[in-house]
Amino acid sequence: MASKFIASTLEDYRKLYKESTVDPEKFWHEFATEEFIWKRKWNTVLQYDLLKPEIRWFEGAQLNITENCLDRHISELGNKTAIIWEPNNPDESTLHITYKELLSNVNRAANMLKSLGAKKGDRICLYMPMIPELAYAVLACARIGAIHSVVFAGFSAKSLADRINDAQCNIVLTADGGFRGSKVTPLKDIADEALSSCPSVQKCVVVRRTESAVNWHSQRDVWWHEEFAKASDTCEAETMDAEDMLFILYTSGSTGKPKGMVHTCGGYMVWTNFTFRNVFQYKPEDIYWCTADVGWITGHSYILYGPLSAGATTLMFEGIPSYPDMGRFWEVVEKHRVNIFYTAPTAIRSLEASDRSFADSHDLSTLKTLGTVGEPINLEAWEWYDEVIGKKHCPIVDTWWQTETGGIMISSLAGVTPDKPTFATYPMPGVQPAIMDEQGTEVLENPAEGRLCIKFPWPGMARTIYGDHERFRQTYYSTFPGNYFTGDGCKRDENGMYRITGRVDDIVIVSGHNLGTAEIENAINEHPLVNESAVVGYPHDIKGNSIYAFITCIHKPENIETLKREVVDVVSKLIGPIAKPEKIQICTGLPKTRSGKIMRRILRKIASGETDNFGDISTLLNPECVEEIASNRL
Ligand code: PRX
Repeated sequence: MASKFIASTLEDYRKLYKESTVDPEKFWHEFATEEFIWKRKWNTVLQYDLLKPEIRWFEGAQLNITENCLDRHISELGNKTAIIWEPNNPDESTLHITYKELLSNVNRAANMLKSLGAKKGDRICLYMPMIPELAYAVLACARIGAIHSVVFAGFSAKSLADRINDAQCNIVLTADGGFRGSKVTPLKDIADEALSSCPSVQKCVVVRRTESAVNWHSQRDVWWHEEFAKASDTCEAETMDAEDMLFILYTSGSTGKPKGMVHTCGGYMVWTNFTFRNVFQYKPEDIYWCTADVGWITGHSYILYGPLSAGATTLMFEGIPSYPDMGRFWEVVEKHRVNIFYTAPTAIRSLEASDRSFADSHDLSTLKTLGTVGEPINLEAWEWYDEVIGKKHCPIVDTWWQTETGGIMISSLAGVTPDKPTFATYPMPGVQPAIMDEQGTEVLENPAEGRLCIKFPWPGMARTIYGDHERFRQTYYSTFPGNYFTGDGCKRDENGMYRITGRVDDIVIVSGHNLGTAEIENAINEHPLVNESAVVGYPHDIKGNSIYAFITCIHKPENIETLKREVVDVVSKLIGPIAKPEKIQICTGLPKTRSGKIMRRILRKIASGETDNFGDISTLLNPECVEEIASNRL
């Protein structure tokens, strides 16, 4: 495992960073040569033109990512657990799947897909719960060179159909149902509804999970267990070009039409392996748990590809943090003696709001590294995570990245580089961030503040939007020509550490002052009674815009007016009177996407006086709260 490309000290990190920027081609040539198996080596390491944009890593190389995630580990790690699967219901048995078993199951699934007509280049949609078959299916697609498009199993029939149609998938894999806490999601019913408007789909493979009754389309539907049982467990890995598509993953866009981000085989493999090992400092005996769903990029990169290519033991959890109670995460940590735990700030905040005894009653002493991802983490949540979960001895890696970046871009390296609360800190080797001012000029001195761009290619970057390269160019490469524009605002402190402040579309200009809604939220969250907050701008006759804050509380406030006054005071104190919210609405929940992001778009509409016409809210985690918020609008 020891590799000169994995930093063990701050000096190592500095050296790697320097090498990766002074001569990126040499750096990635050496890393890719030493750390992976290739069927054929590349002609050039990198060719790029960020104006078009055209990005090609390891041109001419051939590989199969599953040989790097599975086959090459068999001789030494064949009996090591690759995946620990923890079911939704704690009374059901855990599974320990070894590398050998994983390879054989992936091969079976690959042969099953082939027997159903799948071939290299086909797009295959996976609409599945967090069960081992989802991992087998993802890797089986990669094994045969089919392009997987995983759609989170919480999306509505319409969202699923839109994604299937956009990619013209010919096979869909789903399950009779999915367990999530005390609920069963009727996945097959939803898929049936979607497929009624998806003419490209020839076959639908159904895993039996919940034993729910399902409708059956005998021409189209097959049971996973029947086909899988017939399939052989050897399957040669398809030869893929480094720049062949590995997968498509949809992410929301500003226009409402989801963008199918395309990642390719070679660069993505290199990037997820490099970042996983450096950030989490994985050691061979570690048990690593990322709580994300495989339906999101975090699950792709840091439950499956990154950890498996590193020969790690990765825990896959079917359930949710609140079932059967708010201690579930900590029970799983204790049960499996988890060493590295990676979750989202939204989960941390909801756990923080629960009784502390849920955490304190479990043995968390095996934890040595904590991670967060997905949104800026507020100071209070960071401190709670540090103290109550990490017992003040675990480094916290605050990992900033995006679906588009394929893997972690800015983060501390656990125990190797320093962390700083609420800062993602330093860029990964290979990442060259630039902060741009309003005029599009790079701000070179520190401290700095502006829009975050990346000015040089890295191997894991998305190559295009499926079927719409012009939208790709427009969205990411036209605002600051020659640079990848992240859409995020950020600050850099006097030591060069980065703090992501949130989407720049969440900036509100009040009386000519630029205010980051994330910054105001951070201030509001400092109030001890506040659990979460979302701040948006709404039109104001005199100030141009004014601030509207939606908040949820840890428990019911005794006096709402007092609370509002205190919230105004805390904002005034921490940011300045200019940022004071004009309106504060106490809510029982905030509308969130399935990945836990607050849908400020809806709140913006409500704040501006629109109380209906919110567009498709069926993909929200909690659509019911929208009506409540709209009817209580101030
Ligand atoms: O605004 C940033 C925020 O999440 C966005 C990317 O979302 P998505 O593509 O869904 O990927 C999430 C998982 C990688 C970013 O543009 N974001 C992500 N991580 C952080 C973050 N904001 C602050 N700090 C982070 N650590």
